[in-house]
Amino acid sequence: MADLMGKIVSLSKRRGFIYQSSEIYGGFSSCYDFGPLGVEMKKNIKNLWWDEMTKKHENIAGLDAAILMSPKVWQASGHLTAGFADELTECKDCKKRFRKDLVGKTCPECEGELTPSRKFNLMMKTLVGPVEDEASQAYLRAETCQGIYMNFENVLNSMRFKIPFGIAQIGKTFRNEITPKDFIYRTREFEQMEMQWFCRPEDADIFFAKWKEKRLKWYLDLGIKKENLRAIDVPEEERAHYAKKQTDIEYRFPFGWQEIEGIHNRGDWDLSNHSKHSGEDLRYYDENPPAGGKEKYYPYVIETSGGADRSFLAFLCDAYQEIPGGRTKTTEPTKETEVLLKLDKRISPVKVIVLPLVKNKTELVKKAKEVYQAIKPYFVCQYDELGSIGRRYRRADEIGVIYSLTIDFETLKKADVTVRDRDTMLQERIKINKLTEFLNSKIK
Ligand code: GAP
Repeated sequence: MADLMGKIVSLSKRRGFIYQSSEIYGGFSSCYDFGPLGVEMKKNIKNLWWDEMTKKHENIAGLDAAILMSPKVWQASGHLTAGFADELTECKDCKKRFRKDLVGKTCPECEGELTPSRKFNLMMKTLVGPVEDEASQAYLRAETCQGIYMNFENVLNSMRFKIPFGIAQIGKTFRNEITPKDFIYRTREFEQMEMQWFCRPEDADIFFAKWKEKRLKWYLDLGIKKENLRAIDVPEEERAHYAKKQTDIEYRFPFGWQEIEGIHNRGDWDLSNHSKHSGEDLRYYDENPPAGGKEKYYPYVIETSGGADRSFLAFLCDAYQEIPGGRTKTTEPTKETEVLLKLDKRISPVKVIVLPLVKNKTELVKKAKEVYQAIKPYFVCQYDELGSIGRRYRRADEIGVIYSLTIDFETLKKADVTVRDRDTMLQERIKINKLTEFLNSKIK
């Protein structure tokens, strides 16, 4: 299984999904850059999440809050205290540091003796303004949702929402993780996709169950295999400091079952603490409560908190297939193993590739480039003229391209192209002037 992860990492680098950050300087621990294909794929995942949350629900609005906030936010939220800390242990010999819960009694690197553990806060510090003193100290946000609580009243008033309603946000998040590991699974800079659902306290359990189901369905609808996804209820002693109830959605990675999203009932932890610390009354004024009369209360928050990077890795691992001997029928006795990235069409970074049958026939190349230029404004599209057509199909399959368009001599006579479907490998001829319509109907 570890070998499989190695192959996925290597494919990611070779084909432009993910590169190590600052590679020419030997890399920068736990930081990664999304390459030309990675950025398209991640954008697709984020757009799918955004559309699911904001377009499919009339009472969920979007937000893009600043990464830097008043340090008082983090005081009130409990992130500067023990609640947001991991147990850190250090090897007495090689001095490497580890998360206590991820190691045994001895150092996993050199088997040296480990020190007793101590608490290590995960907030990442920075300085804001020209003077470097204590007053200028701030933090990079450790969860996007605090920006949502800061704007709870703003959004409520601007949108004239009534409870229940939600606020959704996607954005960068930073944590000074002790042991970043498993490629982009645990990093110090990552992106979260979070939605906070504000509701009456007595409705929290029902909404918790609903959101859990909806989030599981989202992954399954986008192609994650059922046997690789599960929901685990987290016992009280292991829950985040703000959570009254917590279910982790886990994916079976090549390195084991790991969390990709958390569903939390945060109760009134955040709004009541921010009220206390800021002096602003963040209670909701309900003019129409079920029992009649008027009521003022702190709404409960049901949170769906997913990681864009972790979902990315889960979709990538789930789609990766190796076909020993290859898929194309042939008489060749020893064919190499083919890789197929069977990503959902909506997630695939490249939708179409244009291939002239041969590259040494000027008319074919000219026509292929014309077709490429005509399609490129509407679909992420590549052009490839290097190597045999079979090799080019394989290169396209390896990055999950959905349709390969081959321009051959018939094209010049009949103004049509061969369209090969990634999954079925079936080929059909489509007129060039109908291509965009065809691709739209299949992909969008
Ligand atoms: N607002 C709640 C919250 O932040 P969390 O369980 O700490 O909850 C939610 O994080 C999600 O954020 C995780 O399920 C994961 O997808 C992502 N995440 C957390 N830490 C991460 C890290 N170090 N690297 C990558 N993704 C991370």
